[in-house]
Amino acid sequence: MKPNLTVNIGRLRLKNPVMVASGAFGYAQEFKGLLDLKKLGAIVTKTVTLKPRKGNPSPRTCETPSGLLNSIGLENPGVEAFLKEKLPFLKKLAVPIIMSIASEARTEEFLILARRLDKIREVAALELNISCPNMQGHKLISQDPKATYDLVKAVRKTTGKTIITKLSPNVTDIAKIALAAEKAGSDALSLVNTLTGMSIDVKTKRPRIATVTAGLSGPAIRPVAVRMVWEAYTKVKIPIIGMGGIMNAQDALEFFIAGATAVSLGTANFIEPRSSLQVIAGIKDYLAEHKIRDIGQLKGSLKR
Ligand SMILES: Cc1cc2nc3c(=O)[nH]c(=O)nc-3n(C[C@H](O)[C@H](O)[C@H](O)COP(=O)(O)O)c2cc1C
Repeated sequence: MKPNLTVNIGRLRLKNPVMVASGAFGYAQEFKGLLDLKKLGAIVTKTVTLKPRKGNPSPRTCETPSGLLNSIGLENPGVEAFLKEKLPFLKKLAVPIIMSIASEARTEEFLILARRLDKIREVAALELNISCPNMQGHKLISQDPKATYDLVKAVRKTTGKTIITKLSPNVTDIAKIALAAEKAGSDALSLVNTLTGMSIDVKTKRPRIATVTAGLSGPAIRPVAVRMVWEAYTKVKIPIIGMGGIMNAQDALEFFIAGATAVSLGTANFIEPRSSLQVIAGIKDYLAEHKIRDIGQLKGSLKR
């Protein structure tokens, strides 16, 4: 029996439910030659902003037990350079390209970006990064249900593309924010971005990251991410893309059982660039072994 791995995310149809997460796979060209990129379910780009960004000062990353702290600060070449220099490589892959976008100036810049990208055929969907913990100076949009609703609603009016809203785990009630995004017209959710953390070198008494606080990713956050996917799944109807510390198929399966329609790998790519392909193979084996014909049957199959 060959299990069916295809899933739908809004108007997107993916040949398998495994994608690579924003910021942990560059613009895919960086991983050329390390794995067969065509086998990925989808590629999510590093977040792109309207204007180029230099990002935060160094040190920007540091390892912690079972985790990685990062404060890259959304370094990227800006949308026009992305379209000119990065998209030509991506579009040749024949893999759906989900473009992650963000803005510091909030709504207006998001709308300019969404309008600009609405015309670009090769961009299959937009992921709204309203949850980056490394942009200095203001509260995250995704920490406030009303701000989330307003932003998603405004973007919804400007684009016919599939909208995926990426939420932050740095909240008390994830379901509330998930519902706000759904109500505003988001086609899907990405859960979760990094958890805010901090690490100190006790010899120097200095923070290990120049911006002091940073985003924690990797296996350390997986139980939190699985819990949040489950909490959101019990409240919303739109598909959820689960992520947070997925290193292998077993980890990915937890997210499906909790309610995810698809999964995404971030930090794992830095350790083993082929992780996502190994996850696809492992999911296939599990479905065959358990005589499950369709990956959709696994979604939310948690027994209590
Ligand atoms: C170095 C690094 C850079 C990241 N950059 C972005 C980014 O630009 N946009 C975004 O939405 N998420 C970004 N993330 C968050 C990941 O996409 C993902 O949500 C998070 O790391 C949890 O998944 P993981 O534990 O598999 O890495 C970044 C993560 C890392 C480790």
